[in-house]
Amino acid sequence: MLKVISSANGKIGLKAAMDVLKRGGTAVDAVEVGCRIVESNPEDRTVGYGGLPNLIGEVELDASIMDGNTLAAGAVGAVKRFEHPISIARKVMEELPHVMLVGEGAERFAREMGFEEKDLLTPESRAIWERGLREKVTGVYEDRMAYMEALRKYVHMAADPEKHLGTVNFIAMDRYGRIACGVSTSGWAWKYPGRLGDSPVIGAGNYADSRYGAAACTGRGEMTIRLCTARSIVLYMASGMSLDQAARKAMTELLDLQDPYWGRVSCIVMDARGNHGAYTIGGPSSYAVITEDMDEPEELPRVEITR
Ligand code: GLY
Repeated sequence: MLKVISSANGKIGLKAAMDVLKRGGTAVDAVEVGCRIVESNPEDRTVGYGGLPNLIGEVELDASIMDGNTLAAGAVGAVKRFEHPISIARKVMEELPHVMLVGEGAERFAREMGFEEKDLLTPESRAIWERGLREKVTGVYEDRMAYMEALRKYVHMAADPEKHLGTVNFIAMDRYGRIACGVSTSGWAWKYPGRLGDSPVIGAGNYADSRYGAAACTGRGEMTIRLCTARSIVLYMASGMSLDQAARKAMTELLDLQDPYWGRVSCIVMDARGNHGAYTIGGPSSYAVITEDMDEPEELPRVEITR
């Protein structure tokens, strides 16, 4: 059965992703199309165009894509001025003998691949960013160095899980039972420039293996990077655990992680039979699903994992 799941903010892309599958497209095609729709949504301040910027007001995007059939993967990090990092990540996967490109190299490659540049900072996101800075960084600074020092203290605001966390996750299963996974984000607002979260890190924020399943994460990437959460969930399923057992184990590991900036993490998961679920160590939240027999996507609650 054709199936696509996403984090709740991906719901707007699920029908288009399903249409791709119905037309015979692959799971990789479907997750790319889903992510692109969210990347173009200026209302989503955590992904793509309209995403909130880093500490110095630049929108920096991360994304990755993985083909669970071949275990091929592509990722980009800290990319500026390109609206669709998921598509650049796919090109990395398909055109280069590499998995990940960051910063200027990723932007150079995007230009070579014909992607167009665009200013990603919307007036609304700029206003939120400026208001945040005005609230925190007050006073008169002698020079830029002094100002940057003050700004560095402000980067800790990004660790507040209630503020501007997001990221979009998609997992699709196509007509051949192939699974793919896509993740895209603008990362944490007011992050230190160059900061990468888990979204471009294969195994941390994103992992797919069609033999066992796939998982993708949102939330504080600094935690899932250390625990390789997406890969752990898939590995636990490979070792014989059910989807529910595997996800609960990986989420409990996050609960137990010692971290002064401990924050919310959520995941979506699909197994090789197309069973799906979503889990969180934060408060109530939801994920979205569409199958080939549904006209509209449906939102379902995530399982909350607590101590
Ligand atoms: N999970 C997204 C991030 O940490 O940037």
